[in-house]
Amino acid sequence: MNKMEPSLKLRSFARRVAQEGIVLLENKRKTLPVINKKIALFGRIQGNYYKSGTGSGGLVNVTDVPSFKQAFSENLRVDLNKEILNLYDKWILDNPFNAGNGQWASEPWAQTEMDLSLEEINNLKRDDEIAVVIIGRTAGEDKDNSNKPGSYKLTDTEYNLIKNLKMTYQEVVVVLNVGNIIDMNFINELNIETVLYAWHGGQDGARALVDVLTGYIEPSGKLPNTIFKNLEKYPANNWFGNKKEIYYEEDIYVGYRFFETFMPEEVLYPFGYGLSYTDFLINLNSHSVVGNKIRFNFTVKNIGDRCGKEVVQVYLNAPQGLLGKPKMQLVGFVKTTLIKPSLSVDISLELDLSKMSSYDDAGKISKSSYVLEKGEYNFFYGNSVRNNKHGLTHILNENLIVETLTEALAPVKSFKRIKPKEIEKNKFALDFEEVPTRTINLENRIKSNIKFSNYQPNNKNKLIDVYNKKISLDTFVENLKEEELFEIVLGEGMSSPKVTPGTASAFGGVTDELSKKGIPVVCSADGPSGIRMDSGGLATSLPNGTLIASTFDPYLIEKLYEFEAEEMISYNIDIILGPGMNIQRHPLNGRNFEYLSEDPLLTGIIASSIVRGLNNKGVYGAMKHFIANNQETARTEADSIISERAIREIYLKGFEIAVKESKASVIMTSYNPINGIWAASNYDLNTTILRNEWNFDGIVMTDWWAKMNDDENSEATRENIAAMVVAQNDIYKVVPDAKTYINNLKERYFAGKVSLYELHRNVKNILNFIMKTLVFRRENNIKTFDKKEINYWFLQEVESFEYPFIDESKVTIISDDFKANTKFDLVEKNHKYATAVINDKQQTLYNFGLKLAKIENEFTKLVNSIENKNVLKLPIKNWDKIYLNLNQPSYRNHLAPEDWMNINKDAIFSYKIKVEEFGKYVISFEISLDQSKVTQTPFSIYVNDINKQTLTSNGTLGKKVWIQSTVVMGKEDKLLSFKFHKTGMCIYNIDIVKHG
Ligand code: BGC
Repeated sequence: MNKMEPSLKLRSFARRVAQEGIVLLENKRKTLPVINKKIALFGRIQGNYYKSGTGSGGLVNVTDVPSFKQAFSENLRVDLNKEILNLYDKWILDNPFNAGNGQWASEPWAQTEMDLSLEEINNLKRDDEIAVVIIGRTAGEDKDNSNKPGSYKLTDTEYNLIKNLKMTYQEVVVVLNVGNIIDMNFINELNIETVLYAWHGGQDGARALVDVLTGYIEPSGKLPNTIFKNLEKYPANNWFGNKKEIYYEEDIYVGYRFFETFMPEEVLYPFGYGLSYTDFLINLNSHSVVGNKIRFNFTVKNIGDRCGKEVVQVYLNAPQGLLGKPKMQLVGFVKTTLIKPSLSVDISLELDLSKMSSYDDAGKISKSSYVLEKGEYNFFYGNSVRNNKHGLTHILNENLIVETLTEALAPVKSFKRIKPKEIEKNKFALDFEEVPTRTINLENRIKSNIKFSNYQPNNKNKLIDVYNKKISLDTFVENLKEEELFEIVLGEGMSSPKVTPGTASAFGGVTDELSKKGIPVVCSADGPSGIRMDSGGLATSLPNGTLIASTFDPYLIEKLYEFEAEEMISYNIDIILGPGMNIQRHPLNGRNFEYLSEDPLLTGIIASSIVRGLNNKGVYGAMKHFIANNQETARTEADSIISERAIREIYLKGFEIAVKESKASVIMTSYNPINGIWAASNYDLNTTILRNEWNFDGIVMTDWWAKMNDDENSEATRENIAAMVVAQNDIYKVVPDAKTYINNLKERYFAGKVSLYELHRNVKNILNFIMKTLVFRRENNIKTFDKKEINYWFLQEVESFEYPFIDESKVTIISDDFKANTKFDLVEKNHKYATAVINDKQQTLYNFGLKLAKIENEFTKLVNSIENKNVLKLPIKNWDKIYLNLNQPSYRNHLAPEDWMNINKDAIFSYKIKVEEFGKYVISFEISLDQSKVTQTPFSIYVNDINKQTLTSNGTLGKKVWIQSTVVMGKEDKLLSFKFHKTGMCIYNIDIVKHG
């Protein structure tokens, strides 16, 4: 991979992820996939695909973002209505994209739409045409969405457009290119029968969308959140947007936990739901309970007529007991591999009952403990929270105390929270109970944990001596001067000249003195949807968090972030500021697009796979925002007032899973206070729970220019670094210069309010982490890095790993590690991704579009060195053809060897071409293979440096036969080549016909 250039393999893998995360909500008439159909494309967003939301999570500079219109035009399977495309093009000239004034949140969340009357639409419509309308919304940092047209709601123009389309066309497909869910009541009102959530799919998201719409890829995404009818009925709505205090009255009843328990009739599309182009039957073959371990063995059968993947989801209905429980709770899931029609795969899930326990913050069973209350534990399995079957009842005769912890983070303000009241079996009404408030003395807790630390400054040692075990980390830190301790806790930025230009921060050896001690400067960059470099540096933009979670595929996401890690490494970036993993508590949160899900288990498992993918390659992800940054309105001020139970079961859980499961090493605290104490100075959050309970051994950084306070009665300021240090939030982000930043640390330290022990403790965290970074290894010539041991939160096995769609004998594996210079296609095998040539007709399903970005390969040089001699002019008119009799020298040129007989493996034959008309060309070859019929010989067609097709011929026992292929070529194309993957093919004639 080239240094400082966006990675093409990351880009194409990201497209694959984008395909997997698209959620098909409706396909009532089986309108999709559209294959060989006439399409009319509506909606101005066809020209401006939203790759991501705005703010820090969206500012990735990219080479290009293909639009929906462009992606469609690249596709061979549709015939687009040109008149409509032109109409939009013209209209957009007069109504250009409004990008705001360049400041965050100045861009409107929706763009003006073109008004089209019923009559106009009627005039534009061709016979047998399908209407596809794309609706776009962005969102982002610093501004929440609103329950208004142009944000959560459709504008009148959008609504009328869809309505008019519905009145004119038999079939209307609505595509939502949105970061957050939007109000979906229009689907029923207008009787829309085909709908997809395409989310923000990153740089090639539009292409991924077209891949799915046209059946190149089968949809398999599932909703990571609930789509419901009425915001007003959702209790989290009551305080949402308040600028001072947000009472989390809904408690643990967030998203589907609320709706399934109290108002199932309010749900439009349930959590976990998403269609495929085929249907599945999920069968529970057996289950077993051994101690706390519950094992399920399923068979998933494809009972439809297309391939597809299914997500098996297991939900728990726990006894209400004294604490109260949601009616349904996701406890495990597995995504299958692609299953061929009428075939099945076996999958197993192993779950741990103790991880399904509830936190007793009131002491009803046992104060500050995770408990399993006695009663019936009913497990359901299916493909959404709604569509499932009962699978197992497990009875606990006694209450079980799983773990007793310490009260931490409890609210100081009293309020009431929701609790279910069972009115009849499994039917619940809303009830309320008083939330337990704090009973511990936080100041005493903090003081009692302070120990003694030595101070012996000297200049002798270097950090590498610690790494090489010549001295202990304790000694190294004791040897640092007080000034150095004060400075190392300050990160510099943004766009520090000490690291990769334009990135978010530098920390570690940011001063001369620290640098002389061999402490390198670590670079961190936004995050989470790719590398942000305000210098203008280009990187790859990834699908947004919600789409990533919609894949329900931790393996795929781990792989994606391994590729992301490679791009980071090529830019010398050690930490990406992501994943964003706040719970999607409310659909109007402006940053939901960055976040994963409303469910903590899904959040934790997907975040773990992101972190693991990065760690596998030696770089890190800063899990953010720790915790409860659940609205953008007054995000640095509004107090999140939450019960300890909801904090632990909902808002901390995803982080807890990722810390324990992927041994995450970096956390970013949030801007907001939690129960009166700002996250960056919150001792219970950063020490009692994170370090002492979860054994986190990494670093904690603040969000950029965060505020801190001493206790719930004091004001928060950006200069209160002392409070940050006491809480064990290790690093402040960011200051222009660590030496001169005015703050209270020094003064408080000399006043005895911050101890040497506390400072040393944080600095040790920082240095321990730094010794694990690639920058430290680079600067000290250390070649390897140690991977951490991983304990899985739950075990899942997809027992049939065979890639069922493709007959393996028809796949030629070229490389399984992408080291080959030539990139073909991706084939999934044993959850590893191999580079392969797929040699049967079905291979077009995996041909990633026709206009891939440039690839460095053996053709690149040839393309660049083309002279205008011996050029093959391709036909201009439809059905015109040129005929190359390879016996005649005039059809050979210096790029094409003389002998087309018994062609050798890896041989490349090329023609310089002149294409006067963009279009589809059918290329036919007269060949023979002196081999038996069971042998297979593949060869590929390249246009310029891009592999457009791979064909295979069986042996022909020496007889001449014709085989054909189709490629699209345009005016910019200069080289047509054939590459042979096995020896033995003879070619006699080639003809090329222009065909549409
Ligand atoms: C955001 C963070 C981001 C940081 C650095 C803040 O405004 O909240 O998520 O990583 O800026 O850009």
